[in-house]
Amino acid sequence: MPKNKVYIETYGCQMNVADTEIVLGILKNKGYEVTNSADNANVIFLNTCSIRENAEQRIYGRLGNLKKIKDNKPETVIGILGCMAERLRTDLIDQKKMVDIVVGPDEYKRIPEFIDNAFIGEKGIGVKLSRTETYDDIIPYREDGLSAWISVMRGCDKFCTFCVVPFTRGRERSRSLESIVDEVAQLSQRGFREVSLLGQNVNSYIDNGRDFADLLASCAVVDRSLRIRFTTSHPQDLSDKLLHTIAEHSNLCNYIHLPVQSGSNRILEAMNRTYTVEHYLELIEKARRIIPGVSFSTDIIAGFPGETYEDHLQTIDVMQKVRYDGAYMFKYSPREGTKAFRMPDSVDEATKTKRLNEIIDLQQSISYEVNQSIIGQEEVVLVEGFSKKSNEFFAGRTDSNKVVIFPYSEEFKPGDYIKVKLNKATSATLFGDVVEMLIPSGSKVPKTA
Ligand code: 5AD
Ligand code: SF4
Repeated sequence: MPKNKVYIETYGCQMNVADTEIVLGILKNKGYEVTNSADNANVIFLNTCSIRENAEQRIYGRLGNLKKIKDNKPETVIGILGCMAERLRTDLIDQKKMVDIVVGPDEYKRIPEFIDNAFIGEKGIGVKLSRTETYDDIIPYREDGLSAWISVMRGCDKFCTFCVVPFTRGRERSRSLESIVDEVAQLSQRGFREVSLLGQNVNSYIDNGRDFADLLASCAVVDRSLRIRFTTSHPQDLSDKLLHTIAEHSNLCNYIHLPVQSGSNRILEAMNRTYTVEHYLELIEKARRIIPGVSFSTDIIAGFPGETYEDHLQTIDVMQKVRYDGAYMFKYSPREGTKAFRMPDSVDEATKTKRLNEIIDLQQSISYEVNQSIIGQEEVVLVEGFSKKSNEFFAGRTDSNKVVIFPYSEEFKPGDYIKVKLNKATSATLFGDVVEMLIPSGSKVPKTA
């Protein structure tokens, strides 16, 4: 009998990328083959995102395309995984009649059973959220590469009033420290050079009294030539211990994604963010003192219910004070079931757009200035491969997660660490010339380094 072939398309955050690898790991164990083309597959999943309205619209659009495949090959099983599965459940199966299976983030182990049933014409819905499921026992399916994601905790207990995540991904729970460290060691063995530890709120990680700083320290010593990144941090839980741990270990990257969301205390309170702008700014200052050269990125929402022009100016002000290296900026999108959904959405669409554009323009000029200020410096760069635009150039990343473009040479290959002297910069990209080879791909630095 020919093997079943599964294809998964992933939308949304990096947690979803990591979850897709978990689902593929589960299906590989059951003898499925993984394919990169929807046309070759007899099982097609979309791993979905509900964070904003437009994310869901995109997925509905894509489901429309997939219907054509189903019309030509009715035996194809089509399923929705992830956050939209939690939110829309029966709507997707009963009303839209487009999908056979709907499975939320905590029921992925039941997917093989759902697929078997779908092959004999039964629809399946698995949307229970769990207080314990962490997929600790699943080996994710990963192609060889340089960079890997590991989800270390799931869910979120913060209940920011605008956010669906606590409803679609459930309560916080952490994986065991040992299983994460083992996974890091395996990735190092396979030649990976960068691992990102993921969670909606990684600083709440806790396993038998061991916190996120302990986890980072344990991962850092596995292989000093493996860069360790992490995301996302909530300002309420970013401890001094964590900052000191980052400073102590050379391969813990000096880069913190620290969503501020708004620069107005009144709006932060309405968002249930549990900190003030003053507390946030002190945290940034402290982190800069403890970790010299640390870079920051953030998330900002424009047009939250009740946001006045004054509040907006305070967001502009906080951006000017922090001078983020980068930012992800969004228009507020009302999500059913959240507290903010019931607040009057007082900011009209045109004003939201205008404020968002002002925020984006300001961030672009700040990123440009920040990047100009480091021209002339030498940076350690992990070589990733050809640049997107030209085969005459290679691209890599700095410790602080900035893209660096430098002339191609046969002497270097993906996975090498090299030193690059920066000579030019735009708001999004640095350019430079190679100074020297530091660690060739395939070799590791001694543990004591
Ligand atoms: N509208 C706009 N942006 C949102 N985010 C989360 N929920 C919403 C929403 N309803 C943003 C926040 C969060 C990031 C992942 O997405 O900025 O930090
Ligand atoms: Fe959503 Fe807030 Fe949790 Fe982040 S911390 S996932 S924004 S509820």
